Amino acid sequence: MRRKLVAGNWKMNGTGADLKEIDALGIAWAAPRVEIVVCPPATLVSRVAFTLGGQPIRVGGQDCHAEQSGAHTGDVAAEMLAEAGATHVILGHSERRADHGETDAIVHAKVEAAHRAKLTAIVCVGESLEQREGGTTLDVVAGQLAASLPDGATAQNTVVAYEPIWAIGTGKVPSTEQIAEVHGAIRDKLRERFGEEADGIRLLYGGSVKADNAEAIFATADVDGALVGGASLKSTDFSPIVSAL
Ligand code: G3H
Repeated sequence: MRRKLVAGNWKMNGTGADLKEIDALGIAWAAPRVEIVVCPPATLVSRVAFTLGGQPIRVGGQDCHAEQSGAHTGDVAAEMLAEAGATHVILGHSERRADHGETDAIVHAKVEAAHRAKLTAIVCVGESLEQREGGTTLDVVAGQLAASLPDGATAQNTVVAYEPIWAIGTGKVPSTEQIAEVHGAIRDKLRERFGEEADGIRLLYGGSVKADNAEAIFATADVDGALVGGASLKSTDFSPIVSAL
């Protein structure tokens, strides 16, 4: 049985003043049925972890470098995130693939780095609008999945997030049939490669998840939770999504 998971990706938002949102989440979810992960910008990882103290909400990074240390100005190693209190890291988000030219090979190396540091990698895949309209969604996602995941991926150290690029921050959401089709295809590919282990790997949907569509999305086959962007910034928006799972 896969434990449900809701992860909030704050992207490049949040300062110390927003730690009050973490306080509020901690009060609301002192004993959550589902796993909750908050991924603030790197500058806040240790402060969010400290604010949560021993509470069950987890903290994640939004990216890490593939190497452990070295001359990589501005980058953060997986081990550094772990030391700061992170247990998870988002990798291969489409914004990083677009803004920083991250290829599947780069994402693959970063996922291995996350595993080395004992972080759970939340690996993002998803098609552009052009690819969706061109009918290549399943091929695109299968290709990203095959090339981004290392052989050492397990149910424990890896989560896959399906995020259609055209649904991110747009208010557009695929139909539940479309989500089910892609998640089913991802599950099949994972089974082909990882056998029974694949049944434990959680699949999140991401892209304009809000309180008013969360219930329908969570009721969809093979959806084990969500990767939430904009609606994760305020606890009053995020908590109803967690409640819907
Ligand atoms: O990582 C989160 C996704 O990019 C979704 O963002 O909920 O603002 O559409 P969004």
